[in-house]
Amino acid sequence: MTSVELADNVFWVGAVDWNVRDFHGYETRRGTTYNAYLITDDNTVLVDTVKFPFRTILTENIQEIVSLEDLDYVIANHVEMDHSSSLRYIMQHASNATVVSSRRGKDGLTKYYGENDWNFQIVKTGHELKLGSRTLQFVEAPMLHWPDSMFTYVKEDRILMPNDAFGQHLATSQRFDDEVDQNVLMDEAAKYYANILMPYAALIIRKIEEVTKLGVEPEVIAPSHGVIWRSNPGKIVDSYLGWSRGKTENKAVIVYDTMWRSTERMAYAISDGITRHGIEVRLFQMRRSDFSEVMKEILDAKAVIVGSPTLNSSMFPTISSFLNYAAGLRPKGKIWASFGSYGWGGGAVRAINNGLKESKFDVLEPSLQIQYAPTREEQQKCMEFGGKIAERMMS
Ligand code: FEO
Repeated sequence: MTSVELADNVFWVGAVDWNVRDFHGYETRRGTTYNAYLITDDNTVLVDTVKFPFRTILTENIQEIVSLEDLDYVIANHVEMDHSSSLRYIMQHASNATVVSSRRGKDGLTKYYGENDWNFQIVKTGHELKLGSRTLQFVEAPMLHWPDSMFTYVKEDRILMPNDAFGQHLATSQRFDDEVDQNVLMDEAAKYYANILMPYAALIIRKIEEVTKLGVEPEVIAPSHGVIWRSNPGKIVDSYLGWSRGKTENKAVIVYDTMWRSTERMAYAISDGITRHGIEVRLFQMRRSDFSEVMKEILDAKAVIVGSPTLNSSMFPTISSFLNYAAGLRPKGKIWASFGSYGWGGGAVRAINNGLKESKFDVLEPSLQIQYAPTREEQQKCMEFGGKIAERMMS
């Protein structure tokens, strides 16, 4: 691995993690990168570090250009450990450097890495740092991704370094958006948004407006994960605005689990009932599906239909876990519906609906339940149920 220059004297010096498959529960089937950037001017600046096991790669990439002792500033845009856990190592070798962060950034770094004798410079939105021929401008961005998060903007080069925002968990040997498959790129960008940033949709819209008012008009967006948007930064900004405003496709997602295939047969029949109206449907049996991948599919779906057999008077554990995960991500503007099978007593559909309503999701009722296995007539009822969902989607 080696450093890559993205503008005169502005370098990517991060690390590619090809093999990570579980990023705190998020399935990263294509790995990820931890992007750090080096700017050399009258002052030399490192923007963010990398996850601790990759500190040697970061160091070697920096040392292709300068020695660690030459660093004047280390910008810590975000405290989370994938970006900060090499900071202590870097600071042990960069004895002249000042750590630049938000106030909450300093608090978080101190809590994680202990009291230390680092020079800190606390910055707020609008503060600038003159490096020589270049100026860094800072924008606080709380909750994108943590309360401490901030963006760094290289004014003269018009490069925005927004840390987690606009990222993708995508390991590649290429560093730029125009060098990779566009479908893969947007698939990973959508999955990243759905699983990391979706709860903050309103904040994202406001932050993009605020940044624009501050005169930040980036030609390049260099996030902390994945490739750098140099050819078409507007593409990811527009996508974020669309996702944050709840833009959907003509698509429904059915998430279900099954014991003896009764609920599964219902799911297939409901799917047929929706598909007849020209609407795409995607089905996921949750015992075999990754939650983060399903959330990506829900991101632009108009309807989400949740099915479960009754187990011990409630829903199946995979469905309960998934609803808990989805509730935290707060997808907005979807039509939700539920269905399920039972042997006696029932309870799954009631439990699903209670969960959906607690999350303040818009639930289409009545739900559909059948006992034991669906008869031919009951399969027809499932198709009609799907038809009602489709009509609501089209209304
Ligand atoms: Fe990539 Fe919130 O850390």
